[in-house]
Amino acid sequence: MEYSTVLRHDDEAVATLTVNRPEKMNAASRQVLDELNSHLDEIEGDAGVEVIIITGAGETSFVAGADINELALRRPLDGLEAYMQRTYGRIAHFPKPVIAAVNGYALGGGCELALACDIRVASDTAVFGLPETGLGILPGAGGTQRLVEAVGRGPAIDMIITGRRISAAEALQWGLVTYVTDAESLLEQAATIATRIRRKGPTAVALVRQVVAHSAAASEETGMFVERLAQSLLYATAEKREGVEASLSKRHPDFAAVKGES
Ligand code: COA
Repeated sequence: MEYSTVLRHDDEAVATLTVNRPEKMNAASRQVLDELNSHLDEIEGDAGVEVIIITGAGETSFVAGADINELALRRPLDGLEAYMQRTYGRIAHFPKPVIAAVNGYALGGGCELALACDIRVASDTAVFGLPETGLGILPGAGGTQRLVEAVGRGPAIDMIITGRRISAAEALQWGLVTYVTDAESLLEQAATIATRIRRKGPTAVALVRQVVAHSAAASEETGMFVERLAQSLLYATAEKREGVEASLSKRHPDFAAVKGES
């Protein structure tokens, strides 16, 4: 596929995907979602990529929501097709960790894109909001679910039914993001987080993301059971032996050295 609205840049084992429609505030058109999906297809089968960073081109906007011109054409059954919701669901369950580097407006589908990522880091100029009710619709790409999960029901309903925009500082206070940096350091900060993840046991990272994702919809008892099962699996790995041995010998673990061993 020829890419123009989502660009990929790889640095070591980190793939950065940049939504690239700065003249339209990086609004997520059908083409953006197609290109995003196509990148995800490629990255999924690329053993050389361990972490993904998603950001927006330019200094003003991460993603200013769905493309409003396309929204104008939507009919009832398009709501059921929910292409954006499905794409973001794919990101939320992607087999590799995904970091959102929010460099400006994260409105509507932009806020929902960030919410689908594992970790959110924002520049101090970032602005979050779900303006959909002002357009007579609701945040239908996971916003009604993931925002509640991220910040709790009260603040989430407030953002959705008032259309209130919140600053990066407020987002940090609410737990919507876990890091705020100045604009110049944003990608560096995201890369530092990616490096920290890459130093951990890769199977442990992959499993813990799945345990957390699946436990969210399960009873605590089931969640605890899934946690025990995943831990049993990890106890059987060469990565666990390497991690514990390294800790006991006061050295850094070399998980790459035991890759593929059991
Ligand atoms: N869809 C399509 N185009 C969009 C867009 C979107 N979601 N958001 C911005 N744009 C376009 C504008 O139409 C404008 O295009 P033009 O220059 O051809 O007229 C361009 O991006 C710049 O936006 P503009 O509104 O002039 O910039 P601003 O700095 O005054 O405001 C925003 C920036 C992000 C606050 C404002 O563009 C906005 O509110 N966008 C819509 C956000 C939204 O409602 N998203 C949810 C959709 S469900």
